[in-house]
Amino acid sequence: MFRNLKPVGRILYGRNSFDQLGDVLGELRIEKDSFVLFLVDEYFDGKDFLKRIPVQEQDILKIIDITDEPKTKTVDAMVAEIKGLGKGNPVSVVGIGGGSVMDYAKAIRLMFTNEGSSVLYQGLDFIKNKGIHCTVIPTISGTGAEVSMTTVLTGPLKKLGIKGNFTAADQLVLDPELISTVPEPQRFYTAMDCYIHNIEALNGYRRTQMGDSLGQESLRIFRDIYLGNDSRSPENEEKLMIASYLGGLSLTYSEVGACHAMSYGLATVTDIHHGVGNCIVFNQLEEFYPEGVKEFKEMMRINNIDIPHGVTAGCTPEEIDKMIDVSLTLVFMWAHVCGPDWQKIITRDKLRGLYMKM
Ligand SMILES: [Fe+2]
Repeated sequence: MFRNLKPVGRILYGRNSFDQLGDVLGELRIEKDSFVLFLVDEYFDGKDFLKRIPVQEQDILKIIDITDEPKTKTVDAMVAEIKGLGKGNPVSVVGIGGGSVMDYAKAIRLMFTNEGSSVLYQGLDFIKNKGIHCTVIPTISGTGAEVSMTTVLTGPLKKLGIKGNFTAADQLVLDPELISTVPEPQRFYTAMDCYIHNIEALNGYRRTQMGDSLGQESLRIFRDIYLGNDSRSPENEEKLMIASYLGGLSLTYSEVGACHAMSYGLATVTDIHHGVGNCIVFNQLEEFYPEGVKEFKEMMRINNIDIPHGVTAGCTPEEIDKMIDVSLTLVFMWAHVCGPDWQKIITRDKLRGLYMKM
């Protein structure tokens, strides 16, 4: 049985294409009281950029705290708050920011039309009803959240994506100008999420020609940016945005691997953000991705990046066990890395040894 995949609806692309957002949303504002829910990364709080967002009087704009990774309880609280206003449902939920804000938008839009807590829907194909329209606009590139069918959420028991037929966004705006002010090292860490997606997608049992083609092109562009001598030129901003898009798309036709399986475990206990968490984990995965890790270290050297070390040094044995528990729930990822008999290779002791090195 093949899945009939839907990565994303429409794509508005080009430098300063963001200025057309008002027209795009205008097509959805059919009723007089139609309103849009804007979710904006806290990075823009108080900045002039807020004035460029086409907010109308009846709309709601929320600044999103991204100190922690997206949480099910925040999704539930936001939906309850908006429903409680008695205005009906928004005509679009617009996420402007990084992977966390885009994932919040993709999750919140689903919970207007699916009953109960978002915790009930973590996993594959639990969402039954189409959500309301969702627009995502990346202002930092690498996560692939702009195109992926997964919205990653941390719940009380697990960090796991909601993934299914209705989970991808309907509208994407790719404006390279928007990522030009991202500070380092966040830009590097988030960009590396894209690199790691490609390395993982291209090395494993669930590879496909479609996934490989997209992943290889993303990787080619990515090497241009990060093995060159000016990763922040305007040309490279645009390339990074496209590499992220193609890398995210390649995952739709393949799977992430060992780094994501372990970084989800790390994040559950430490709340370390996805991009930097991936870098901390990937740095220890020569055994799985020897060439990729070597190249990653070269990219860090060229770009003067030093990742955090000793992040698990203060963890208790119970906390390390919790990381291992979470990692071992990600059976699709491990099966992609090691094949159907992955449990013979990926033992608790192996994972403990790797976590202790981070
Ligand atoms: Fe990722």
